[in-house]
Amino acid sequence: MKKITIAIDGFSSTGKSTMAKQLAEKLEYIYVDSGAMYRAVTLYAMQQKLISKNKFEKQKLISALDKINLEFKFNSRLGYGEIYLNNVNVESEIRSLVVSNFVSKIAEVSEVRKKLVKQQQLIGANKGVVMDGRDIGTVVFPDAELKFFITASANIRAKRRFDELTKKGDKVSFEEIFKNVKDRDYIDSTREDSPLIKASDAIEIDNSNLSLEEQFDKIYKITLEKIKSINS
Ligand code: DC
Repeated sequence: MKKITIAIDGFSSTGKSTMAKQLAEKLEYIYVDSGAMYRAVTLYAMQQKLISKNKFEKQKLISALDKINLEFKFNSRLGYGEIYLNNVNVESEIRSLVVSNFVSKIAEVSEVRKKLVKQQQLIGANKGVVMDGRDIGTVVFPDAELKFFITASANIRAKRRFDELTKKGDKVSFEEIFKNVKDRDYIDSTREDSPLIKASDAIEIDNSNLSLEEQFDKIYKITLEKIKSINS
């Protein structure tokens, strides 16, 4: 059975990662959360004091890129790879609102994108991969056999993110989450290098009114049809 490449792009907090993880598990494909890579670089920049509310030492970050080693190590209990920054598991730390507040600035830097895209393409070189992000169907794997573009209203996305963070015990307000979602939408879709846009051959799914199960059933059905047509 020939394996394919599946690209899942879309706005933040649309549940892309949950969906991509489930799909990869079901198909026995590799799952890659490309956003985690941008978040880990952001965490590195924060640790090195290269980025804060009032400053961003972009050139210093570019010079330090060779010192940043990112790896996904498979966690059999979770069923997917967790991200390691220079050999430290940062899977949980990168999800904080502070990282979310800086990540779009880091993701605008072309040199950062070049490094991460190269690594993403290497991971997916043998197909059998489900990767989620913003530019997977347009830049990382423009030839992917199957592309999804996921959207949902900003209000619903902020509510989902708020529930997720407060469940973890983070002290955040709905207003700051909503602002972060809107700000990231704006920066991610207007940046010069690889803006978030729907690939012309992507299937768009608005999940504002879909449950996780309904959404998964929908994409799984489309995926099986695609795999079948490629193997026939
Ligand atoms: O999917 P996420 O919210 O964890 O992604 C974090 C940020 O990383 C997002 O605001 C934009 C950036 N990103 C990107 O520019 N390109 C990708 N392929 C994935 C994420």
